[in-house]
Amino acid sequence: MKGIVLAGGTGSRLNPLTRVTNKHLLPIYEKPMVYYPIQTLVNAGIEEILLVTGGRNAGEFLRLLGNGRDFGLKHINYTYQEGEGGIAEALGLAEYFAGDEPICVILGDNIIENNICQAVENFKKQGEGAKILVKEVTDAQRFGVAEIRGNHVIGIEEKPKAPKSNYAVIGIYLYDKTVFQKIRRLKPSGRGELEITDVNNFYIEEGKLTYEVLDGWWTDAGTFESLLRANNLVAETGANKMSPKKNDKQAKVPEGVAR
Ligand code: G1P
Repeated sequence: MKGIVLAGGTGSRLNPLTRVTNKHLLPIYEKPMVYYPIQTLVNAGIEEILLVTGGRNAGEFLRLLGNGRDFGLKHINYTYQEGEGGIAEALGLAEYFAGDEPICVILGDNIIENNICQAVENFKKQGEGAKILVKEVTDAQRFGVAEIRGNHVIGIEEKPKAPKSNYAVIGIYLYDKTVFQKIRRLKPSGRGELEITDVNNFYIEEGKLTYEVLDGWWTDAGTFESLLRANNLVAETGANKMSPKKNDKQAKVPEGVAR
């Protein structure tokens, strides 16, 4: 399985923070934002990673990440998205990198408390199609929202005014190689972008999309509110835990020690 981190976009919702840098280079507690999704992939055993970025600050990613030594990697692949065609367009740039292998795609502003090891294992067993991860939220209209019936997702709506459930589709997706054919069939949405939600709906039409509910907290960091939340969550509990038990022990502060 190969991994793809999508770190393009203008970050317009964070203006003026993003006027002179890329959103994914902003700090989340003690690390740049993009460190967290890369760590999520590495923790799931995915070491062949492509970073897709764009805009005026693309070169900074190379300066920051180099060959991925901070993650124990020997190599990171990079590609450049011209323009602002959306998440699915950015993913389309990964076709050559992916070859025939299954891929795990993560949005560069998605941060999780724990890990996706089980979902990745389950998708390997699934063998084809796609898997999404969902999480119950109180502000579902900000996200792709999954309508779930029994054990199946029967449809996903992008930023619906009246969400059909509280299950947000988080920005971590597992796909087989047919994802690139599907991207070629997409038409720009109302916001002028190729939507990842439309890709997922193609898989639903084929009856090949499974889902899992993510364990632990999840947040995006693309708005002022969620950026603050991400910082607070990471500072308070830490992110990308491999084993919650082990980390809980480490995080415990002996009684009487001031923090
Ligand atoms: C994107 C996706 C949306 C998903 C979200 C997760 O939204 O379009 O379906 O729920 O990421 O972070 P955006 O960040 O472009 O608003």
